[in-house]
Amino acid sequence: MSLAVCPGSFDPITLGHVDLVRRARGIFEEVVVAVAHNPAKKYLFDLDQRVELARTAVEGLDVRVAPVEGLLADYCRQVGADTIVKGLRGGADFDAEQPMALMNRHLSGVETMFLVGEGSLAHIASSLVKDVASHGGDISDLVPPAVAHALRDALRPGGTR
Ligand code: PNS
Repeated sequence: MSLAVCPGSFDPITLGHVDLVRRARGIFEEVVVAVAHNPAKKYLFDLDQRVELARTAVEGLDVRVAPVEGLLADYCRQVGADTIVKGLRGGADFDAEQPMALMNRHLSGVETMFLVGEGSLAHIASSLVKDVASHGGDISDLVPPAVAHALRDALRPGGTR
């Protein structure tokens, strides 16, 4: 198999995401981590920061990281990707992902492949990590070190957010 896209908001990238990207790279010759931007959505980190943090997090995995503005289906067509890879932590993820998989296939014919990630990381979600960090909780084993540093900086009283 050739080129797969691992899309997400990555606000910020977590160890769960990194596990998924590593698994995708074990199957596909080329993997692009596609950092999506929706102008209507409120992010903690802007697009450049999310891309930069993702690049640092996947260093050494031999994958690319790219910002994606607009439709993911269009991006997949542009780069010649025939597969989107998403991770499933449980049934709720599948319920959220299935309509997107169907829509992306409807729009461009691209297939979505679901991978089950490492079980010990299944409780990790970017939103929960931000919540824990905002209350001063320990996030050091939930995200890569550079992300933990950026979160502490962004969320400290008087920080950049
Ligand atoms: O990490 P997330 O927020 O669950 O990822 C959702 C994401 C970014 C994959 C999805 O919102 C997306 O594909 N956005 C790009 C715009 C798009 O193609 N929207 C139609 C989706 S069917």
